[in-house]
Amino acid sequence: MSMSAYRSRIAGTGSFLPENLITNKYLETLVDTNDEWIQERTGIKWRHKVKEGQYTSDLAYEASIQALQEAQIKASDLDMILFATVSPDQVMPNTACVLQSKLKAGDCMALDISAACSGFVYALAIADQFIKTGPMKNILVVGAEVLTPYVNYKDRDTCILFGDGAGAAVVTRAQDDQDSIIYSHHLHADGEISDLFVLPAGGSKVPFSQKVLDEEMQYVKMKGREIFKHAVRTMSKCCKEALEYNGFTPDQVDWVIPHQANVRIIKAVAYHFGISMEKVVVEIEEMGNTSAATVIIALDKAIKDGRIKRGQNILLTAFGAGITSGSLLMKY
Ligand code: ACO
Repeated sequence: MSMSAYRSRIAGTGSFLPENLITNKYLETLVDTNDEWIQERTGIKWRHKVKEGQYTSDLAYEASIQALQEAQIKASDLDMILFATVSPDQVMPNTACVLQSKLKAGDCMALDISAACSGFVYALAIADQFIKTGPMKNILVVGAEVLTPYVNYKDRDTCILFGDGAGAAVVTRAQDDQDSIIYSHHLHADGEISDLFVLPAGGSKVPFSQKVLDEEMQYVKMKGREIFKHAVRTMSKCCKEALEYNGFTPDQVDWVIPHQANVRIIKAVAYHFGISMEKVVVEIEEMGNTSAATVIIALDKAIKDGRIKRGQNILLTAFGAGITSGSLLMKY
């Protein structure tokens, strides 16, 4: 339990998925696959795709406006913007600064967090630390991705999985009469197995060149089956760690929100963690894997449709390239 001076509260959330859809039927025209296989093996029906001229910061802007409105916080009251993404508008400047400008947030700390699919959980934990220890009162935490440019639509292992989308949460210092709290966060990384999921080109190791395009190194490369095993093992471990640390039993958790990578991974995590699928938020069907955005989009959808209510205990868990992972337990 927290002995800190202040408690964090998610005061508002928002999410945004661009209009264009990549359906399984459409993917059938690009690679040797079929709708039935994709639905059965991944749980995905379609993913969203940005339109021409729409960037990661634009998706984040739409989600952030909703979150700020719901929290009744002006953008100019933000002390910090944390932007979890592996698909920034550009390598430099960071996308948090781009978003700060679009929101007209004025002077505040603005930083991107690169932890792939664990990005939102990492960023929310960082926000909690800045609230708990006192220096900040209002923090915008974003998870947003435009992954479609990094996907090779000739590679059936990856093109069926990823999509574009954004979510945002305004995290504030809780008032005395608000009993919300982030109980704990446990964040991990294992760089020893970083080769399981990589984007080879575009960094200092393999700068862009004609060779990159010829060898298609601008696209993600994934060892799907290996990731699957690690994802199940790691997320169930992170969930158990959160409960043990706080002295909770699984039945004290109202909702689990895991990273939405594959519905079979989610079901296996629920099984190993020992919680019914009725308590697990699954939103993958209509968005696919949006990396850092999945957890916050799923949280926002479950809040908006009334599944998640104030006072309930919510356990977030994620797993992503790195390999990063983690959990966060909170009373919403
Ligand atoms: N359509 C039809 N058949 C396919 C497809 C496809 N799109 N892809 C693979 N297959 C075939 C394979 O060739 C194989 O055929 P074979 O038995 O004749 O060799 C068969 O289906 C089974 O292949 P597997 O790779 O074992 O399929 P699996 O059930 O493992 O599903 C998948 C593949 C969906 C990629 C799964 O492993 C997975 O979801 N892994 C995790 C991926 C992930 O989460 N990545 C990102 C994590 S990190 C982050 O989110 C940033």
